[in-house]
Amino acid sequence: MRQPTRLVAALAAVFLFCQTQLASAYDTALPHIWPLDPWKISNLKITVPTFGPINISLAIENPNTVSAGPEPQNNGYLPFAPSAANCSVTAERGAGPMKAECVETSQFSYGVFRVTGNNISPPNFTLAFNLEYNVTRWNSPMWKVYDAPATFEVGKNLTLGKYDNATRAWTYELRPENTPFEIPPAMTDCHGYCYIPPPTNDTR
Ligand SMILES: *[C@@H]1O[C@H](CO)[C@@H](O)[C@H](O)[C@H]1NC(C)=O
Ligand SMILES: *[C@@H]1O[C@H](CO)[C@@H](O)[C@H](O)[C@H]1NC(C)=O
Ligand SMILES: *[C@@H]1O[C@H](CO)[C@@H](O)[C@H](O)[C@H]1NC(C)=O
Ligand SMILES: *[C@@H]1O[C@H](CO)[C@@H](O)[C@H](O)[C@H]1NC(C)=O
Ligand SMILES: *[C@@H]1O[C@H](CO)[C@@H](O)[C@H](O)[C@H]1NC(C)=O
Ligand SMILES: *[C@@H]1O[C@H](CO)[C@@H](O)[C@H](O)[C@H]1NC(C)=O
Repeated sequence: MRQPTRLVAALAAVFLFCQTQLASAYDTALPHIWPLDPWKISNLKITVPTFGPINISLAIENPNTVSAGPEPQNNGYLPFAPSAANCSVTAERGAGPMKAECVETSQFSYGVFRVTGNNISPPNFTLAFNLEYNVTRWNSPMWKVYDAPATFEVGKNLTLGKYDNATRAWTYELRPENTPFEIPPAMTDCHGYCYIPPPTNDTR
């Protein structure tokens, strides 16, 4: 079902960066930064009212533990822990102001999630997910930045729109067979422990 409104919107959502919740345990095993498990979107709902801003709410989870950098005293590695967030993003129609709200659901994370998008329109749109970890320990900044774009299309991995007469809004959700929606992240910036082993000639 086609929703006629085209939106030019930029969305930004930042979830709370709680610098006081420092990880208390160190990786003592070998450092790990690759391969990565996909991020999981367990819930995504788009509400498009006849008038007013559209609303995207989603729950995203990064299940990976990665090594930030060497921990000098324990001969191990400071971990960046798995992270998860609930985001509720409001995009004004046109180039209006935007509102963002994300709630961190995991502990011991240094992470900040961002969600951005252009031309958000239910039939077919792409959201760009970005996760940034950054902490300074033992006088060394350590960071890792990950990016993962995700394309959503009504009838493919989103349900057909449902119109609610009472709220005069169309809603779209992830199709059950596409839930959780998995998106592979790529590391796009790194400082600290950053060594990715070269690919093997495995032709499986
Ligand atoms: C957006 O939708 C979510 C879930 O339906 C709701 O909790 C949130 O309050 C909405 N945000 C706005 C600004 O309407
Ligand atoms: C995040 O959303 C999930 C449902 O998708 C809910 O179970 C959980 O309580 C929420 N967490 C927070 C901190 O709001
Ligand atoms: C979805 O949008 C992209 C970019 O706007 C476009 O290239 C693609 O053809 C669209 N796909 C469908 C099925 O409309
Ligand atoms: C991380 O923080 C350091 C120090 O505050 C800063 O120099 C660096 O640019 C930050 N890295 C990223 C990717 O933002
Ligand atoms: C969702 O469906 C669209 C259209 O088939 C596809 O281009 C996109 O890759 C799908 N997204 C995922 C994460 O599978
Ligand atoms: C939808 O709501 C309008 C008023 O907002 C009402 O006149 C109409 O009968 C409703 N239609 C249905 C199918 O409930």
